[in-house]
Amino acid sequence: MTTDTAALTDETLAAVTAAAHGDASADGLLDTLLLRGCTGSGAPADPLVLDHAAVRDADPLGLDAVLRRLPLLNDAGDTGSLTAVLAAAVERGGSVTGPEPAAAALRDTGMVMASLRRHGVDPVAAVPGLAALLTRWAAASGTIPRDTVVHYGWWNPTGPRERHYTTATAQESLLIDSVRQSCRTLPAASIGLDRAWHAGLTTPVALLALGAAVQALQSYGAMFETVRTGVSPVWFAQQLRPYFDPITVDGVAYCGPAAAFVPLYLVDELLWGTGADHTALHREAVEYGRTLWRDRRGELADHPPLDEVVAERLHREGETAELAEAARLFSLATRALVRFRGQHATLARGAYRTDVTGYSTGSGGWAPATLLSITTENRDAATHLDDERRCAGHHRQQRP
Ligand code: HEM
Repeated sequence: MTTDTAALTDETLAAVTAAAHGDASADGLLDTLLLRGCTGSGAPADPLVLDHAAVRDADPLGLDAVLRRLPLLNDAGDTGSLTAVLAAAVERGGSVTGPEPAAAALRDTGMVMASLRRHGVDPVAAVPGLAALLTRWAAASGTIPRDTVVHYGWWNPTGPRERHYTTATAQESLLIDSVRQSCRTLPAASIGLDRAWHAGLTTPVALLALGAAVQALQSYGAMFETVRTGVSPVWFAQQLRPYFDPITVDGVAYCGPAAAFVPLYLVDELLWGTGADHTALHREAVEYGRTLWRDRRGELADHPPLDEVVAERLHREGETAELAEAARLFSLATRALVRFRGQHATLARGAYRTDVTGYSTGSGGWAPATLLSITTENRDAATHLDDERRCAGHHRQQRP
């Protein structure tokens, strides 16, 4: 290993491991590593590598105090006050410049807009000048012209400034925290897997990177477990889901901050491949992500699914200690996603019952049945790899 490669590997592993533990200090480095594509070529300065802490800290429209009262305004259905808040924000919004303030402005206006929409008012029609600002802030910060799961999760401040729609603070906080962490753990897992691929999958560096990716995916699954046990699907469907309805900006309808749009697309195709339904869902999710993630996803599509590569190598080369270890780690990574998907599909079925809500699809427009077919495809990939592992182990034992 050259000194440069060693430094890069240390930096990559440290960032991926920190993200797996929910440490926000590595957020900026994750962006840089995604931008580099983990190949070690220099990191160009990119305007879309944001200072995420600065987005969280920013209150460019002076809405901190009023957003603290947002759940109460929503409980009262006070559309008059909500419209006045939005109009005042638009008056102040002309002076917002720079990517971090622009991202924070989209986050904060987005919550007021979705609140109005939930109470039957079209915010863009109600407040002249809003659409132009949304478009400007979106261009400056690399997202669609309304708030997304990245704003509601990753860029939502923590502590007393955390923004909520509802008065069910504990449940909503759990959801927010799980999507916040997903925006960290999923890019981190993607970086770890990509690093392992470039390092040859079975080298010591590759195995370390794979181990870190497994930690990140297990942490993603553990975060979801807290949602499954702490968030009532009926509460979600009846109380929170109405805030995620679409809003039209310049003639285009944009969905609200659905968790369906967390950047799992940075991992799935790289790790185990996907089927037709899933590809369509990914295509939509990518539109609701950050430009940086979208660009990176395009590059990753060139990878073959890595667990297939490992399964094929086991088949062809037979089992060596390194290949067995790589296959074990790939199995853990793929199974972490299967476990998430199984639990998630059950939760979604509990929320989208006709006796519970008028909604038959998620905020992304997909029926819960789609989730079952994606889970089955994911499980089939894991089973295929585990079959090859068993077979290779069996052949090794047979060898004299
Ligand atoms: C009560 C909570 C939740 C419900 C009822 C729910 C429901 C759904 C539904 C119906 C879909 C289909 C797409 C759509 O139209 O929205 C979906 C997709 C998805 N959701 Fe959730 N969800 C919940 C929470 C979460 C959380 C907390 C996460 C992640 C942290 C998450 C991650 C995903 C992902 C990644 C997809 C895309 C499908 C896949 O790749 O398997 N969801 N969800």
